Amino acid sequence: MKILVFGKTGQVATQLQRFKNVQAVDRDQVDLTDPERVMEMIMKSDVDAVINAAAYTAVDQAESEEAQAMAINCDASKVMAQAAAKKGIPFVQISTDYVFNGKGSRPWLPTDIPAPLGAYGKSKLAGEIAIREAGGTHAILRTSWVFSATGNNFVKTMLRLGQERDELSIVADQIGGPTSAAALANACYKVSMGLVNHPEKSGVYHFSGAPNISWAGFAREIFAQANLAVQVNEIPTSEFPTPAPRPKNSRLNCRSIKEIFDISQPDWRIDLTKVLADLPPGQTCQN
Ligand SMILES: NC(=O)c1ccc[n+]([C@@H]2O[C@H](COP(=O)([O-])OP(=O)(O)OC[C@H]3O[C@@H](n4cnc5c(N)ncnc54)[C@H](OP(=O)(O)O)[C@@H]3O)[C@@H](O)[C@H]2O)c1
Repeated sequence: MKILVFGKTGQVATQLQRFKNVQAVDRDQVDLTDPERVMEMIMKSDVDAVINAAAYTAVDQAESEEAQAMAINCDASKVMAQAAAKKGIPFVQISTDYVFNGKGSRPWLPTDIPAPLGAYGKSKLAGEIAIREAGGTHAILRTSWVFSATGNNFVKTMLRLGQERDELSIVADQIGGPTSAAALANACYKVSMGLVNHPEKSGVYHFSGAPNISWAGFAREIFAQANLAVQVNEIPTSEFPTPAPRPKNSRLNCRSIKEIFDISQPDWRIDLTKVLADLPPGQTCQN
């Protein structure tokens, strides 16, 4: 069984490459703004499933580059899903909590109506719709707050700032489930393999780490585990304005992925310990 993965250099694709039967491709091999090349790559590949771990992920920049975000997150994903459908192989797409408007405090169900607040969320939702319309075997895995030892993420930002400052103000009224790229990669892998023999399991699923926490709480745990003495002051979102609005409620109900694929929510605090151990010396004060 072979799997083709787009987004080779990204956080999740880096973790997917731990699996020997994964063939990952980068921007030089396939630029996602070139739909013909995307189609050709899948049609020519001798693979049993495709996972799209590539995306336009610059959430704030997307507000001023909506067409670019749409081309990568919607148009390219659509072509991938169409190509996979033509070949009769499963397609797994990673999507986001940003498809929701963040209202309320109930964890979002995969069946809840999305209403994205910004351009990034809109482009990811448009991608989801296009994938469903392609009509092939597919899974859309919505996740949140991805972190790893590689790439740009909140953990690495906090470690950098925590080594420069004694005190930080962090947003406390956005709540979600931090998700390690490694756990997400495992979930994508298991789902793609599961779909090969069970196309009827196609659909939208939620997957995130547990327990839910605020960004401020996440930062406190990072500093505690990294042995950094930083005071975290809790602030509301209104005191940290960003070009793209963020959902306050990013909690995802992950029950269906457990029921259908037997994938449990990982404890992100345990995954954080592993990520800190994976960081090169100098990027963490962990003993
Ligand atoms: N990060 C999060 O907190 C988060 C939260 C929820 C959902 N997600 C979703 O999770 C998935 C994986 O995220 P991630 O954090 O692993 O992403 P990431 O680290 O930002 O990596 C994105 C990947 O996409 C590639 N890419 C972007 N534009 C491309 C283009 N035009 N042609 C070819 N490749 C292109 C990048 O290549 P280059 O290195 O060449 O730029 C990179 O390999 C994405 O679908 C994202 O929307 C992420």
